[in-house]
Formats: sequence, C-alpha cells, structure tokens
Amino acid sequence: MARRSTDLCVLITFLSLFLLTEAGHKHNRGRNGLKSLEFSLYQHETINKTGFIVVDGVAGNAGVSQTTTPFGTVFVFRDRMTAGLGLSSSRVAGVAEGTSITSSLDGLRSLSIAKITLDVEGRRGSISIVGGTHNTKPSDYPVVGGTGDFLFVQGYVRSSPVDLRGTTVVYKIEFHLYWPPYAPAVHPN
Ligand SMILES: *[C@@H]1O[C@H](CO)[C@@H](O)[C@H](O)[C@H]1NC(C)=O
Repeated sequence: MARRSTDLCVLITFLSLFLLTEAGHKHNRGRNGLKSLEFSLYQHETINKTGFIVVDGVAGNAGVSQTTTPFGTVFVFRDRMTAGLGLSSSRVAGVAEGTSITSSLDGLRSLSIAKITLDVEGRRGSISIVGGTHNTKPSDYPVVGGTGDFLFVQGYVRSSPVDLRGTTVVYKIEFHLYWPPYAPAVHPN
C-alpha cells in the first residue's frame, strides 16, 4: 500500500509538472536540450503620443495617412506591450523602443529597428529586432540578439496589425525565441 501511494505521488508530480509546462505560453527544453520560448503580446501605438514623425519624407507619391508615410519619413516610437488586448485592463509586459524609415515609394513599407524590453515568464531583459515592415500585412523580424535573461537569444518576431483605425493602433506581436546550444553554458538562466 505504501509502495502504491509513493508511485501515485510520483505520477501526480510528473503530471503536474507536465501541465505547468504546457499551460499558457510554450516553454520548452526539447529532446535536443535546446531552450525555447513562445508567447504573444499586444503593442499599442498612439500617433503624437507614443509615436512621432521626427523627419519628414520626400514629397512624392504617398502622403501621410493611417497606413502610409512619404518615402524617407523617420518615425520614432516608444510603445507599451500588454499580455491582453486591452491597454488599461492588462499588465504591461514589454516596451518597444525603435524607429521606422519609410522605404517604398507607395509609402506602405519601412525598415524598422527596435529594442523590446521584456518581463515575461519570470524572465527579464531585452531583445533587439531588425527588418522590413509592411504597414497592412504581417511582418517577420529576425531577432539579432538579447540582454539579461535573453542573452544570446535567436529566432524571429511576427508583427500583425489588429486594429489600424482610430488614433491608437494595435499590433499583435508573436515571439518565437530560441537559445543556441552554448547559451546555457555561459549564462545558466
Ligand atoms: C501629429 O502632429 C503633427 C505635427 O504637429 C500634425 O501635423 C498631425 O496632424 C498630428 N496628427 C494627429 C493624428 O494628431
């Protein structure tokens, strides 16, 4: 009987560990020993409040609209990122600081760089991303590196517009982060 209950305890412990790992965000140390983390946040940007045009683009094909800016426009932002869709109702889990430079003549695409400071899953630090943005379609950005608990991180971030109407625009940001094999040896967190 004692033996039975020990077995049961071990089983329950394993089951709950499994369930904890599976809940919510995906958080893995796979069979190959590689560590990864996948989660989503919502980025909120308000024109003239969290994002500003600091250099006007060249006069030409595109004007300033909800989705376009003239070629060469330099836009700078410091946007909050929340776990849920509502800015007032959910926790700020990240801050994106960066800049976009309009790089297509139709005003729809830009080159973007950003540092995203994160506090998720008990991990704190930042990741840096760089890549092309399409103003009305999902865009993928390679992760070029990280700091703190995200030191050495690789992977990509996908940004998709959720709501482009109104003065505050919302993007869903999906993080797909992978640590290279040597990272745990240098930085065990
Ligand atoms: C933002 O500020 C600029 C410069 O003051 C102004 O021209 C523009 O209309 C403003 N945009 C919005 C949406 O308030």
